[in-house]
Amino acid sequence: MTSPAIVTAQQFSALLAQRRSTRDFEDTSIRLEQALAILTAGQGITGSEGQRAAPSAHRLYPLLLRLLARNVQGLEPALYDYFPENNELKRAGELPAEGVLLDASLASDFWLEDAPCVVVICANIKKAIEHFVEQDIEGQQRGQRYVDFEAGAASQNMHLQSMMEDLGAIVVMGVNEQALKVSLQLADDVEVVAALCVGHIPAHPLG
Ligand SMILES: Cc1cc2nc3c(=O)[nH]c(=O)nc-3n(C[C@H](O)[C@H](O)[C@H](O)COP(=O)(O)O)c2cc1C
Repeated sequence: MTSPAIVTAQQFSALLAQRRSTRDFEDTSIRLEQALAILTAGQGITGSEGQRAAPSAHRLYPLLLRLLARNVQGLEPALYDYFPENNELKRAGELPAEGVLLDASLASDFWLEDAPCVVVICANIKKAIEHFVEQDIEGQQRGQRYVDFEAGAASQNMHLQSMMEDLGAIVVMGVNEQALKVSLQLADDVEVVAALCVGHIPAHPLG
């Protein structure tokens, strides 16, 4: 470590020990600052040369975070893109109709519908595949592997930040990516990689 520890090793271990997936979300809003803190944990710029909170092979940064904001204070329910350069959200389209995300689930994951917000981790996979083509061995597409790995790193960052914001989260990859791409109105060169559902964990009655 070159700078003083921000959290102690013990605190960090405790955070990791408590990390669990949440599939039951309270029907309450989250705050815009919480959503932004989570997105920043996923792709925020943290280095003077544009480095981000999650690592990226060759600093290619092929990921795009599209926020499906159903119930975020201060945000009209809609789709938004996260811009790391200025830590800003820009409206990207209308919310998909109710049931569309559930229909895209391969396992009836209704938490895709219930969460007050879903961060959809998207990527320009073609760009990554083309960029790393010279590293391909026996036809396997290394760029695809790198994108999946980077999405995993971003997802874990965002899950842990969600916990710090007193929120629960779950990563969902069992989806029909093509169906989601259409309903999220993604550009032709952008694909869905994973979704992180985020929201309040219901308080359980004592006893
Ligand atoms: C790559 C990956 C894909 C996953 N996809 C789904 C999914 O489609 N639906 C779901 O409910 N959970 C999904 N999960 C969450 C796992 O089911 C969960 O992490 C596992 O049950 C362990 O529980 P824990 O996260 O609470 O420790 C996924 C997790 C990973 C790492």
